[in-house]
Amino acid sequence: MTEYKRYLITAALPYANGPVHIGHLAGVYVPADIYVRYLRMNKKDVLFVCGSDEHGVPITIKARKEQCSPQDIVDRYNGIIKKSFEDFGISFSNYSRTSNDLHSKISSDFFKTLYEKGEFVEQTSEQYYDEESQTFLADRYIVGTCPKCGAEGAYGDQCEKCGSSLSPDELINPVSKLSGAKPIKKPTKHWYLPLDKYENFLRSWILDGHKEWKSNVYGQCKSWLDGGLHPRAVSRDLDWGVPVPVEGAEGKVLYVWFDAPIGYITSTQECSADWEKYWKSEDTKLVHFIGKDNIVFHCIVFPVMLKAHGGYILPENVPANEFLNLEGDKISTSKNWAVWLNEYLEDFKDQQDTLRYVLTANAPETKDNDFTWKDFQARNNNELVAILGNFVNRVVVLTNKYFAGKVPAKGNLTDIDSQALAAIAEAKENISKNIENYRFRDALKDAMQLARVGNKYLTETEPWKLIKTDESRVATILNVCLQITANCGILFEPFLPFTAAKIRTMLQIENALWENAGDDNIMQEGKTIGEVALLFRKIEDAEVDAQVEKLKAAKAAREAEEAMNAPVAAQKATIEYDDFAKLDIRLGTILEAERVPKTDKLMKLLIDTGIDKRTIVSGIAEHFTPEQCVGRQVSVLVNLQPRKMKGIESQGMILMAEDANGSLQFVSTEQKVKNGSSIS
Ligand code: MF3
Ligand code: ZN
Repeated sequence: MTEYKRYLITAALPYANGPVHIGHLAGVYVPADIYVRYLRMNKKDVLFVCGSDEHGVPITIKARKEQCSPQDIVDRYNGIIKKSFEDFGISFSNYSRTSNDLHSKISSDFFKTLYEKGEFVEQTSEQYYDEESQTFLADRYIVGTCPKCGAEGAYGDQCEKCGSSLSPDELINPVSKLSGAKPIKKPTKHWYLPLDKYENFLRSWILDGHKEWKSNVYGQCKSWLDGGLHPRAVSRDLDWGVPVPVEGAEGKVLYVWFDAPIGYITSTQECSADWEKYWKSEDTKLVHFIGKDNIVFHCIVFPVMLKAHGGYILPENVPANEFLNLEGDKISTSKNWAVWLNEYLEDFKDQQDTLRYVLTANAPETKDNDFTWKDFQARNNNELVAILGNFVNRVVVLTNKYFAGKVPAKGNLTDIDSQALAAIAEAKENISKNIENYRFRDALKDAMQLARVGNKYLTETEPWKLIKTDESRVATILNVCLQITANCGILFEPFLPFTAAKIRTMLQIENALWENAGDDNIMQEGKTIGEVALLFRKIEDAEVDAQVEKLKAAKAAREAEEAMNAPVAAQKATIEYDDFAKLDIRLGTILEAERVPKTDKLMKLLIDTGIDKRTIVSGIAEHFTPEQCVGRQVSVLVNLQPRKMKGIESQGMILMAEDANGSLQFVSTEQKVKNGSSIS
C-alpha cells in the first residue's frame, strides 16, 4: 500500500440513546479495531478516535419519555457504551462526547468559519409550530394519520406501520406530540449547505478518484450524485444541541449531522497536541469506518464541509458495511430485537473474543448477513475450541510435559515439517493483504488456516506415540508447532486480542510485533515457555437456546408495552339508539373448536348460545389453540346474517377485544353467567 506517515482512523460516533449491540460491533467497531491493531502491530503512527453522538431529536424524545433531561440520558448511555467498547477491546486512542465544552467550541467555530466565508445559503420556510408549547416541532414530534396506509400515530418523517418515509406536510390531521395541539405553520430561518455547488468536486474526487472504494459505497455515492444534490439545512429549531453561533439564531442549534462528524476532530484534539498533523497534512491517511446508513454523510456532506472550510484532508477510504440481522429479522432498538453487548458479557463472561470472532467471520462486508445463536455456538465449538484452542493447548501441554517447558531443538526437517512451516509466511502475507484491503472476513480465514495447518500437523505426526522411541523427532515436531503457535499469537492479535495476548504470555513473547512473524525465528531453542491457560470453552445447547428465548421474551415485553401506550382509534360517527337496539348480543360458551383446514386464521367453533347450539367461524386461529377456546364463555352477536366461510356456514360472530398490536382477548364477564344472557 502507499506509504503514509501516519493514520487517522475514525469509527462512527454511536448515538447515546441506548447501549450498543452486535450490529454496531460487526458493522463498524470490530473492523475498525482490526485495522487499527494491525497498523499498531506494524509500528505505524495511528490515532483511533470515536465518541458518543449526544445530540439530535431521538435523545430529547427519550428524555421526555423518562421525564429527565437529555443530559441525564446521554450521561447514562455514554457510560454504558464506553464500558462496552473497553470490555470488547475496541482500542480507541480516545473516546469523546459531543456534549462537552470543547466540542461545542470546535463545532461552533467550524460553523462560524463557513458562515463568514459566505458558504451558507439562508432560507426562510414555513414549519409546523406548537403554540401551546411555543416551539417549532421536529418531524418526530408531529404525529398523524399515514397518507399511505391510513395507520394512526405515523411520525412526521416516517410511518412505522408501513415503513414509508414521509414529510410532515403529508400527514393527515397532524397533532403535536408535545401538547396534543393542532400545530400551525410559522416561518423560520435556517442555514443551508449548498451541496449542489460541490457536485463537480465530488464527481471527480469520488467517481473518478476513488474507483477502488467498496462497490456498495461507490454505488451509493454515484446514485446520490446522479440523483442531483440540493442544499441541506444544517440548523434546527430545537433546545438541545450546539447553539447556532450567529446573531438572530435564538432557539436554533446545529443539526446533529453537522456537529457529529466534527466530533472526530474534537476527539483528536483531546488526545493529541499534534492534532493538526493528523487532520491537515497530506501524508496522513484518513479512514472512516461506518455502517451503510451513514454513507451519504461521510462521503458527501462531511467532505463538503471540510472542503468548504479549507485546510483539512479528505478521507482516503470509507469502508462502510452492510447490516447484520439477528435470527432472520432486522436488528431493532425500538422493537428490542438485539443482543446488547453489556448483556452478552453477563452471560458469556470473558468470552469477548468468541463474539469478535463470529462477528468477523460472518461480517456483513458485501451484503446483509444474519447472526444466529446456533451459528455462534457452532463457530465457537467447531472452530475456536476444536481447532485454535485445541492446537495451542496441546502444544503448550506437550512442551511442558516432554521438555520441561523449554523449546526443544529442531532436527532435520521432513517435507511435512517444511510444509507446515511454509503456512506461516503464507498466512502472514495473506492476512496483511486482506486487512489492507478491508477484507476482514478473508483475513480471519487466513489466520484460522494457520491454526488448522498446525492442528492437522500435530494430529498427523502424533508425537505422543513417538515420545518413547524417538525423542529427537518429537523435539522437531514440537519446535515446529511452537513456531506456528507463536505466529498465531501475533497474527490473531487484530482479530482476537485477548486470546492472542494469552498465547503470547504462554509462550513468553509478550511484545512480539508483526515483523517478528515468520517461519522459525521466534521460539529459539532453549527458551522457556509458561503454563497453559484456557483459551475457549465449549458452549452448550442450553445456553444458546436460552439466548433465543431471551430475545423473544424481550421483544414480546416491548410489544406489550407499546400496545399499552399506543393511541386508541378515534370514536366512530354517532348512531341512533334504535341502531344499537337492533344488535342482539348474548353470552355463550364454546363447546368445540377446530382449525379450518388450509387457512391460517379461521377457527370453527360450536357455541351454546342459550338459544341453540350453533356453528360460528371466527378469525382467531392465529391467537388461540382449540384447547384454549373450549369451555370459554364469550360474547356472541347472534342475529348477524349467516354467511359461508370456506364452505362452512357461520351463524353469528364472537366479539373480541383487539389492541394496537392486533392481539386478541375474549370479551366475557367476570363471573360465568347463564348462556343466553343478553348484553345491552
Ligand atoms: N450517530 C450516528 C449513527 O449512529 C453516526 C454519527 S457518525 C458521525 O448513525 F460522523 F457523525 F460522527
Ligand atoms: Zn403507513
